[in-house]
Amino acid sequence: MSSTYTSSAVEQTSVALDTERIRRDFPILSRTMRGKPFVYLDNSATSLKPQSVIDTEVSYYTEMSSNIHRGVYEFSERASMLYDEARERAARFIHAPQDSHVIFTRGTTEAINTVAYGWGLKHLGPGDEVVVSEIEHHANFVPWQTICERTGATLKFIPADPANGRLRLDSLETLITAKTRLVAITAMSNVTGFMPPLDRILSRAKEVGAVTLVDGAQLVSHQPVDVAALGADFLAFSGHKMLGPTGVGVLWGRAEVLEDMDPFLLGGDMIVKVRKERTTFKDLPERFEAGTPNIAGVIGFAAAIDYLESVGMEAIHRHEQKLLAHAMERAAEFDDLTVYGPADVSVRGGVFSFNLGDVHPHDTGAILDQEGIAVRTGFHCAQPLMQVFGVPGTTRASFYLYNTVAEVDRLFEGIERVRNVFG
Ligand code: ALA
Repeated sequence: MSSTYTSSAVEQTSVALDTERIRRDFPILSRTMRGKPFVYLDNSATSLKPQSVIDTEVSYYTEMSSNIHRGVYEFSERASMLYDEARERAARFIHAPQDSHVIFTRGTTEAINTVAYGWGLKHLGPGDEVVVSEIEHHANFVPWQTICERTGATLKFIPADPANGRLRLDSLETLITAKTRLVAITAMSNVTGFMPPLDRILSRAKEVGAVTLVDGAQLVSHQPVDVAALGADFLAFSGHKMLGPTGVGVLWGRAEVLEDMDPFLLGGDMIVKVRKERTTFKDLPERFEAGTPNIAGVIGFAAAIDYLESVGMEAIHRHEQKLLAHAMERAAEFDDLTVYGPADVSVRGGVFSFNLGDVHPHDTGAILDQEGIAVRTGFHCAQPLMQVFGVPGTTRASFYLYNTVAEVDRLFEGIERVRNVFG
């Protein structure tokens, strides 16, 4: 069950997660919701934060609150040092050879927009094609749609199979052609957890000389990732889905593509010289980090990386697959439960999207809420995929390192309750 995106150098451990110990590190898990023990199954939306991340973020404000790369005083120097170290840790986490190729953004959405505006506006024009898939999150869909409209390029889609949410790759060779300038593809669907065969898609893109971007928002938080093994030009992901604070994300890129991109945000800290006639920009990474960044968030993000590394990404991945396999087994007991995505858990992350009969997902979510269970309902920022499935929405449970088999069972007790109320 090792990840496709891991180099053989990454250690593969076989020790099961000590969820009881891990849960003690997350203060919110000791709370009740609606008077019931809190079950958090909305990890694809955002993750909970361990005390170490909360403490690190607070310590920036209590011990060194200041701006970075500008002050000549001790607190600013300390904050600058921690911010720069966070970049080194983020680079190490994805095995990026150079930390200057890690750009801090507000999240995956801003990272993808940075490429869409910085690379797309510069390089795309009429006759060019951009390829995305029908399972993309809107963040890896709308920017490309807009940039294609603005440049006259054409947007094309790798189709999804309505039966199981997998991508249909039979027409890949006719879809990705010499006209394709960029292929932007998710590494894991936020709706079904399906992980497309990126090696096949990215190697076809390379054959035709297209630039490639991987939306890693749902992957980097759950599995070991090595950017060299991944083989994409750009990788975008979010800190808040991997135990970090909200408002921090990463755009990693290969040097050649980053250097061939215009800055999307312009202003302070990204310039070398500003004259009335002309402005020159700094080198990587500062060129793409205009304005005061989310300093506390970035420093907290480094603490999140430390936490994940101390547990081990391979162990986290295996734990989630165990939870997903259990959910799939339990689902088989319900003949009125439609589960979206492939039946084969080895091509999925820990995401379990379903509908119970014709009960509206919002009603399902409302009953689960009464049981203390947090899930997401609706179209999950993936309306094109909902159209493929022919439904307005689903109820989605998504797992992480602190979830337990007992919590999956609580979900199914909740689903029973939904059936009793609406059946
Ligand atoms: N992308 C997040 C989700 O899938 C917000 O819920």
